[in-house]
Amino acid sequence: MHDFSALIRRNLPSGVMRLLEITAAEAEARGLTLYAVGGVVRDLLLGTPKLDVDILIEGDAISFGMSLCERFGGHLHTHRAFGTAKWRIDTAAAAALDLPRAELPPFLDLVTARSEQYAYPAALPTVAPGSLRDDLLRRDFTINTLAARLAPRPLGTMIDLFGGESDLREGIIRVLHKASFIDDPTRIFRATRFEGRLGFRMDAHTEGLIPEALPYIQHLSGERIQHEFELLFTEMRPEHALARMKSLKVLEQIHNALTFDEWIGEAFENARAFVAKPEWNLIRVDLSAIYWMLLTCRLVDTDGVAARFRLDRHRTGQIMQGVRMWKALPALEAELAPSAAVRLLEGLSDESLIAGYAATTAPLARHNIVCYAFHWRFVDASLTGNDLRAMGVKPSPLMGTLLARLRDACLDGEVNSPDEERAAVLRWLREASAES
Ligand code: CTP
Repeated sequence: MHDFSALIRRNLPSGVMRLLEITAAEAEARGLTLYAVGGVVRDLLLGTPKLDVDILIEGDAISFGMSLCERFGGHLHTHRAFGTAKWRIDTAAAAALDLPRAELPPFLDLVTARSEQYAYPAALPTVAPGSLRDDLLRRDFTINTLAARLAPRPLGTMIDLFGGESDLREGIIRVLHKASFIDDPTRIFRATRFEGRLGFRMDAHTEGLIPEALPYIQHLSGERIQHEFELLFTEMRPEHALARMKSLKVLEQIHNALTFDEWIGEAFENARAFVAKPEWNLIRVDLSAIYWMLLTCRLVDTDGVAARFRLDRHRTGQIMQGVRMWKALPALEAELAPSAAVRLLEGLSDESLIAGYAATTAPLARHNIVCYAFHWRFVDASLTGNDLRAMGVKPSPLMGTLLARLRDACLDGEVNSPDEERAAVLRWLREASAES
């Protein structure tokens, strides 16, 4: 047990530090024992501190949250079944705390120390109040069991009950007990995610527990698996975890069509490189959507995979756009008139265009996508329906055909001014009446 306070003081943003001090003083005044636990301690030791802090209380987190709220304002969202509370620190609460809003996290998570039992594998756990040790014992990996005591003071005494610090030093992901993955198969996803993020590796014992837990993945709801993938897609390089999931036979347990290969890894990298280009800075791109598309666009059973993940209409729509983009690629690998490329790409979102760019190395396809994204999709004729009406065209399907033809002509450089557009329309009308 060594003193952790210097590290906390040095590395945590000053607003967060002050918030912890105030919270600790409040807990001490109430005779409560308070800890910072989990990711915050792990990341502080790794030198990558984060803003969101999980506070563990040996006692009732909800009534402690209520007392913070009474004293400083803000809002409290409670989850009685789990004894957890989320204290939202709004502008008024920041003022009452006498701390600049910008230096504070938006929330403080308050958790009642609890012991946990799983009624059956892959179920959500049932919980009962417990000690710090009980609470740490129910956690996934040793590196996530480190705690720093905040109250009673001195603030920052580190508690390492399961060898987390040494595993952190050695880069090891280690479960606390052998039923861990069976109790909660989402931990298999978490293990690969931490491996990928931190460059760590499961120890042989932990990795050896995965095969017997694999069948339990089937019992996980689509929403829970989807949540794990959404988290994965916020990582810097999700392909590392996906490659591990593939080699550990995890992906096929989610859906037998789901897979990972080098092509996906490279496409992910291409997409990130493309999104980092300054041209896209103006546009908010949903990189997760691009990853979903690249993961699923070549699958035969995209619908089945979307259903297994219980993707909502929005995400399902996105992956369907990915499929459309993928299918358009062979046709795009040619010298095309701009109007032909527009026909292939029209209606596709920015994300699917980037997915398409990332999914091919064919220069012509990339050229067509980039020209469409930055130029062609904004081209339109200067004449409108009203102009055509003034030229004697009645509202009719013919009007639509003429407008579409006019835009194609503009795109392909066949007409370059309103006068040329007018001349072209009159010519087409003459041709049409000559034919009829
Ligand atoms: N936890 C767990 N099993 C899970 C999910 C979470 O044991 N299936 C525990 C972990 O010990 C973790 C804590 O709950 O430290 C909080 O979970 P979360 O906020 O998801 O984890 P972090 O460690 O903060 O991860 P991240 O850095 O990805 O936010």
